[in-house]
Amino acid sequence: MGKTRMFWFLFFVGFCAAYKPVVFIHGFNGTPEDGNLIKDIIQKMHPGTLYYTANAFNRTDTVKPLWEEVAIVKPQLVKYMEAHPDGIHLICYSQGGLVCRGLLSTIPDHNVDTLIAVSSPMAGIYGGFKGLPECIRRNLYRLLYSKMGQRNFLGNYWKDPHHLELYEKFSDFLAPLNNDSISPHITEFKHNFLRIKRMVLIGGPNDGLIRPWQSSLFGFYDENEIVQDMKKQQYFIKDSFGLRTMYEQNRLFMYNIKGIVHKQWVRNPDVIKGVFMKWLN
Ligand SMILES: *[C@@H]1O[C@H](CO)[C@@H](O)[C@H](O)[C@H]1NC(C)=O
Ligand SMILES: *[C@@H]1O[C@H](CO)[C@@H](O)[C@H](O)[C@H]1NC(C)=O
Repeated sequence: MGKTRMFWFLFFVGFCAAYKPVVFIHGFNGTPEDGNLIKDIIQKMHPGTLYYTANAFNRTDTVKPLWEEVAIVKPQLVKYMEAHPDGIHLICYSQGGLVCRGLLSTIPDHNVDTLIAVSSPMAGIYGGFKGLPECIRRNLYRLLYSKMGQRNFLGNYWKDPHHLELYEKFSDFLAPLNNDSISPHITEFKHNFLRIKRMVLIGGPNDGLIRPWQSSLFGFYDENEIVQDMKKQQYFIKDSFGLRTMYEQNRLFMYNIKGIVHKQWVRNPDVIKGVFMKWLN
């Protein structure tokens, strides 16, 4: 190879091989180690990629209110962003996907390129614990739709389709993020959230925990507990936080994958190699 060609070759190798760093945010009752297989696969398939996790809210600490979690994780994420001005990718698992929405809605100059949210209850949950008796499920709103009930994770994104007026009144995390309630910061949230280049949503019918599982793709129950997909939701129709903009600009990608239970989304090599890796450039 001549000198000039060698130069160009090295130039493009350097240019193209620079994968953006990846930050993993774990979910409810999790730890940073939940991302270990993702880390191994990334480092095998994309050697040299930097990988970080959020060091906060391990295990039972994840019962705390989500805005608290956002506040603690934010300076860590900002540090990674500042160290990598060309941008980073976020992989957010389960409840971590809501934490990531809180982060991306409130960091004004963030440089997140791709948000991958895997089995995250983006539209809220109504149920979701194995063996939770139906009468408790139907009555939990009494407990969760109160000032006290918002002092824990579950109240923050419990969305009872039979008590939406109480949800709107009390939910102090999901409702303001979706502009389901009067949300004084929604313009700012939307502006910040739309800085991401693309959002990749992953979920599937065998999840077994997120209920309805379609919440991971922004679908949710109507008042008859029939699941309506994303396009039927008010926050989509009104483009409350940018979801519709992203969809119309082909920046939104959704995967419905069968046969994966909740715990396995970050532990199944085929999903990680076949789906996650596609977006980590
Ligand atoms: C969370 O757990 C990891 C190990 O899984 C540990 O390295 C880290 O220090 C813990 N962080 C906090 C805030 O407890
Ligand atoms: C948020 O909701 C309020 C009240 O319904 C509405 O006036 C406003 O236009 C909405 N904003 C966005 C960005 O959807």
